[in-house]
Amino acid sequence: MQTAHEVPDKVVLNDELKQYMDTSDEWISSRTGIRQRHVSTGQTTADLCTSVAQQLLAQSGWSADDLDFIIVATMSPDYMTPATAAIVQNRIHAQHAFAFDLSAACSGFIYGLRVAKDLLAGDCHRGLLIGGEVLSKLVDWQERSTAVLFGDGAGGVLLEQSDETASQFLASDLQTLGELGDRLTAGYQPVTSPFATDATDPHQRYFEMDGRAVYKFATHDVPRSIERAVTASSLMVKDVDYFLLHQANQRIIDQIAKRLAQPTDKFLSNVANYGNTSAASVPILLDEAVRNGTIQRGQTIALSGFGGGLTIGTQLIQY
Ligand code: ACO
Repeated sequence: MQTAHEVPDKVVLNDELKQYMDTSDEWISSRTGIRQRHVSTGQTTADLCTSVAQQLLAQSGWSADDLDFIIVATMSPDYMTPATAAIVQNRIHAQHAFAFDLSAACSGFIYGLRVAKDLLAGDCHRGLLIGGEVLSKLVDWQERSTAVLFGDGAGGVLLEQSDETASQFLASDLQTLGELGDRLTAGYQPVTSPFATDATDPHQRYFEMDGRAVYKFATHDVPRSIERAVTASSLMVKDVDYFLLHQANQRIIDQIAKRLAQPTDKFLSNVANYGNTSAASVPILLDEAVRNGTIQRGQTIALSGFGGGLTIGTQLIQY
């Protein structure tokens, strides 16, 4: 499994946000652990994902012609159509690959791993799975309760069909709680035809979140999802070498570690540097941990996402 990531060059520190809203570095870092985020100055989700795809091909030595599929997990695509994955497919000239986007918000990369695994168990031999977001376009930059949380970026993996790959995917646990969907929304598409009779609130274009409800959901449901995946693979939670959770908030990560009764140093974190990058957060964290040698071959890793939908998912892998 090759890994790569890309973020915009522009870094926005917590204190810089004071120009746009009534906030402080103290409030943001103590409540969330976030110290800075990367923000697009014009790069689109497809731009970031294309860079990840190019890096993955370059480091693997594969040709784009070898790819059978490209999946982009995103909640901030460039267009409703074409899919961001189709734009990437065109830009890297992956002429034999089918390409589509997957929308499961912050669980998107984890849902994508499950789909990719199933494709590789069929007639697909090689594919790219990329989580990419430009969330800065979905943020109301005057709304301090959400604007301070999010960042832009992309991360991905290149997967190949082999006996080794098949045995790397130990177990997955995916869940959707659609009844809680209104706790976290963004990107509402209003009906604006001349025949529309309902006045819609244009504000719903931006992130709206019941922060406490999402916090409660994440800290209760993620540990259960991890436990189900671990049990399904006949392992125990203590057998997991590292937990790579969606990077939304350091307090959520610490609380999950406590609930699972595992040492916090098993829970990798880079939320301080990137903020919440939704579907990109887990693959960015994975790539950093592989590159700095923290994650090594043969280790058991739990990857978990949670967020809009509400969705939740864990994929247990042997790296
Ligand atoms: N700066 C300063 N003050 C702020 C800010 C800010 N950026 N944001 C809110 N406040 C104020 C509020 O106005 C409120 O003031 P008041 O008491 O005078 O009314 C006070 O701080 C407390 O606000 P709460 O919203 O109650 O703060 P809370 O302690 O719940 O923390 C937070 C908010 C950090 C968002 C927390 O609820 C949380 O982490 N929730 C999880 C959300 C999350 O992680 N979502 C992402 C997952 S889904 C996805 O990834 C898409």
